[in-house]
Amino acid sequence: MTETDIAYGDLTFQDSHPGQLAAIATLLGLTPPPVDTARVLELGCGTGFNILAMSQALPNAHFTGIDYSPVQIERAQSAVAAIGATNIEFLCQSILDYSAASGSFDYIIAHGVYSWISAATRDALMAIIERCLSPNGVAYISYNTYPGWHSRIVAREIFTFFAQPGASSAERARQSRDGAARLLPAITNPDSLYGQTLQAEVAPLLNAPDYYIAHEYLVEDNFPTYFRDFAAHAGRFNLQYLAESRLLANSFVLGGDLRRALDENAGSDILRREQYLDFLIGCYFRQSLLCHAAAPVNREVEPERILPLSVSLTAEILEVTPDAWRIRSHIGAEFTVDDKPIVKILELLRQLGPAPVPAQAFIQPIIDALGMHSVAALGGTIIAGILLAGWSRGLWILRADTPVLVNPPSPKPLACPLARLQARQSNRCTNRLHRTITLAPDEQALLQQLDGTREIEPSPALARLAAEGFLIA
Ligand SMILES: C[S@@+](CC[C@H](N)C(=O)[O-])C[C@H]1O[C@@H](n2cnc3c(N)ncnc32)[C@H](O)[C@@H]1O
Repeated sequence: MTETDIAYGDLTFQDSHPGQLAAIATLLGLTPPPVDTARVLELGCGTGFNILAMSQALPNAHFTGIDYSPVQIERAQSAVAAIGATNIEFLCQSILDYSAASGSFDYIIAHGVYSWISAATRDALMAIIERCLSPNGVAYISYNTYPGWHSRIVAREIFTFFAQPGASSAERARQSRDGAARLLPAITNPDSLYGQTLQAEVAPLLNAPDYYIAHEYLVEDNFPTYFRDFAAHAGRFNLQYLAESRLLANSFVLGGDLRRALDENAGSDILRREQYLDFLIGCYFRQSLLCHAAAPVNREVEPERILPLSVSLTAEILEVTPDAWRIRSHIGAEFTVDDKPIVKILELLRQLGPAPVPAQAFIQPIIDALGMHSVAALGGTIIAGILLAGWSRGLWILRADTPVLVNPPSPKPLACPLARLQARQSNRCTNRLHRTITLAPDEQALLQQLDGTREIEPSPALARLAAEGFLIA
């Protein structure tokens, strides 16, 4: 990849959070390192906001970010200075040159990097994971995949056609957007498969920000890959595929027609099943977890393994009636939930959150609410099964860390320093659970004020900031 002169955006990615990585590893029989004191490395960290936000919510963990772009590392370092973070360091270094002691990181993250680097750098990235990941550690790599990217490649080729060599990245992004905007209405057969593909892939990019076009579509190196090739690449570095970071993206939690199609056509091998799934859904992006080849992954899912973890509500509650809740899952699917135990858990999460609630805390209330006294001894097993079902439907996630959150607010509320910094520039801020929350103008203005020194009158804006998990005191 050639360096660009435009920062990628101050983005954070919930699915790359070690608390979530550790939860998935635990479900699959591993004993990942404790998250609250973990050593975390991010490769190609951009402006560093992903691990900066993590470092604020995990003060006893230590974070290292590397990126070879001076513009981005300067931005990361000025954010460190602005918020006074002490458990994080950023290095302006190439993945090709980076070396660290064997086993020195418990979690290694590479978001949006693997598909945009040369084959030699991809090898170097895998070699870093092989060498630096601790024996029970977990790595997260996101990447663009075929078959989905076959149609996106057309958009990339059109965009690069219009971008002039030698211009700045922002200028190239503008040139390519303008060119594509003129091309789209002029294509000769908009109803053809080609016309429809262009409409679907190019039109949504016409309003995309410069940094996104520059990094996602205009960079010289862009190598989507088939999942099977990614897994084979990891295998050459003595790493094995563990799972997808989002539970609901995994073939092993699927039911219904997709499950039947996999059972009938893909056999029992996990790599074959995952690749077959990609053909079924036209997958264009994966967030895959890797661990050492020797790690004892157990694919017979036993829900009880999640009982030591905590539960964090991720669905948005749209409407509550006595018997059914209308919700929007964290991937945007809307549906009605009327199973009594699931509704009860949603109720408890609303009442006890936003801090994650230990899974064990649900056992007794659910036994009581459902009158399950005759099978009370099986309570843990039953609740674990229900929690796993809600997790795989995107209602909540299980996580292995315990971020500190405060709700209701104190008289002099204190919000996370990084979120306050983000609020100065944007209405999209990262909460203590590592979720990006879109704020209304009054909420964004108030968040900047919450430095723990000012008496703040109760207000709907303050209540929302507390309910969304921004406050630490
Ligand atoms: C698409 S951006 C993703 C940035 C960030 N991880 C994110 O998702 O917001 C890819 C990043 O990888 C960095 N990068 C590319 N090649 C690299 C290399 N050889 N060594 C270090 N960083 C590299 C780029 O500078 C850029 O910040």
